[in-house]
Amino acid sequence: MTRKANCGELTSDDLGRSVRLSGWVQRRRDLGALTFVDLRDTTGIVQLLFDGSDPQVADAHSLNREDVVRVSGTIAKRSAENVNPEMTTGEIEVRVDSLEILNRSATPPFLVEGDGDDATEETRLRFRYVDLRRKRLQRNLRLRHAVFQAMRAELSELGFLEVETPMLTKSTPEGARDFLVPSRFTRGAFYALPQSPQLFKQLLMIGGVDRYFQLVKCFRDEDQRADRQPEFTQLDLEISFPDGRDEVLGTLERVLARSFREARGIELEIPFPRMTHAEAISRYGSDKPDIGVGMELVDIGSLVSSSGFRLFATALGEGGRVVAIAAPGCGAYSRRQIEELEAVAVAAGAGGLLWLRVGEDLESPLSKHVDAEILRQIATHARGTDGDLVLIAAGRGVETALGDVRREIIRREGLTAEGYRFCWVTDFPLFELDDAGELTSAHHPFTSPKLDELELLETDPISLGSEAYDLVLNGTELGSGSLRIHDRGIQERVFDALGISEEEADLRFGFFLRALEYGAPPHGGFALGLDRLIMMLAGELSLRDVIAFPKTTTGGCPLTEAPMPIDDAQLSELGLAHKEP
Ligand code: AMO
Repeated sequence: MTRKANCGELTSDDLGRSVRLSGWVQRRRDLGALTFVDLRDTTGIVQLLFDGSDPQVADAHSLNREDVVRVSGTIAKRSAENVNPEMTTGEIEVRVDSLEILNRSATPPFLVEGDGDDATEETRLRFRYVDLRRKRLQRNLRLRHAVFQAMRAELSELGFLEVETPMLTKSTPEGARDFLVPSRFTRGAFYALPQSPQLFKQLLMIGGVDRYFQLVKCFRDEDQRADRQPEFTQLDLEISFPDGRDEVLGTLERVLARSFREARGIELEIPFPRMTHAEAISRYGSDKPDIGVGMELVDIGSLVSSSGFRLFATALGEGGRVVAIAAPGCGAYSRRQIEELEAVAVAAGAGGLLWLRVGEDLESPLSKHVDAEILRQIATHARGTDGDLVLIAAGRGVETALGDVRREIIRREGLTAEGYRFCWVTDFPLFELDDAGELTSAHHPFTSPKLDELELLETDPISLGSEAYDLVLNGTELGSGSLRIHDRGIQERVFDALGISEEEADLRFGFFLRALEYGAPPHGGFALGLDRLIMMLAGELSLRDVIAFPKTTTGGCPLTEAPMPIDDAQLSELGLAHKEP
């Protein structure tokens, strides 16, 4: 009996068996009358041995990379000098007795067995179907699948319903530009692709769905980075009548624990640590704290308050702080490197950056102004030891500037947390100021304010807290959510605070405001960025390596050459005309 087998699963337990294999030619070597071929399918690689004297298999020497074949043969032991202990199938080979060439391949643009660096990313994406055959991408797709299935299983067991929401819809504000789709029936009108299903999932709660989830595509027209794609996937969920935010966070913890276990065999410790937004800023200078790499900010205000140094006195006098971090092993940074760090701090709004090399002799520009004993205390307080560089910033809001410096040092020094260090950041402010100094939502306008501080909406909105929370993994924002507003009056007050007029609110969100009047239950939820999660789980640095058909940084698809110009006939059918830039 000839059994259908998988290349990568054959071992010496199969010796003497007859098998049928299908796959791609990875490599061919001719050795006199013998031809060796590495045959690859999705499970791995096995060595085929063709004996040229057999007319059935005489075609073997014509095989080229990526030709598609089916063979039958017998599993045999490799000769001793041929054994490859690196390969799972390295002890055996298949003595082929019949060969069928199912298809020929053009010369592939890069080697499938390589790590892809023999081609530019543009070429890899143009020939994505060849690229996808690579082991690493196959592994990433399998990982993605395993995570998706674990999430679906856990949420279904918890009573969540998977519901789809429209792709042709109305703008949902998540802080990016919309991708628009013109309507043929209503000239001059456009659908927007969803930036998220935010309003639809809230409508589902109003619709009595109770617990919803969806693995959903979202679309955002924004500048691309390694951790952003114009279309990406979220695990989106929402819960009616939640037991506060704890129920939402607890659900996510269970979903993630199961995904890590089933996809990678990793046991996560749950619950994840939590800190408030204020604590994250004060300890890490960031709302995306990388909690696994140390270097916490310390307040040295009380140490320097009587140092007599003007800059410190002014900062403290203005209600600012003096904060420091110790960069481990960075004591040997050159002046130039320190200036580069200072530039990072200044770009984030600090007046400058002071420094202190820790060692037998403390070296610092502060030595002229501040007593050596105080400098020593600063170093100790920041937990700086010999060979470290202590960095100091003084003023109002300098925590985030020093946080940016911390992040830059983490990047430069390649510091990484051991394992997967999740944390929740809770109690974000409801609003922040945009670049133009205007009030804008820190998350989105449907986030509930802290109800016991509601009067601040009209008196001091920037100080108003919210029920928003983020999930952070090793310094990367993986997801965010909140308890929502379910009262029309409060929703209107938030729009008002954001400077959205009644008419505009009605035009953009009238349907939603109306729905809030028909018995909207309390609800809250979350959205997790799945591409980012899988990128980190796979140890990749780019989202493109965990998405089957990703876009380039300019939003293009080299494979299909989308986006494409469309012809005048199609345009005029839509009531559109092209305008030269
Ligand atoms: P938010 O806008 O924070 O929240 O998005 C949630 C998560 O989605 C991921 N993400 C992205 N991933 C890849 N490319 C992008 N361009 C991109 N943009 C966002 C991030 C992010 O943390 N509706 C709310 C959630 C809620 O309130 O329930 C929302 O979409 O990992």
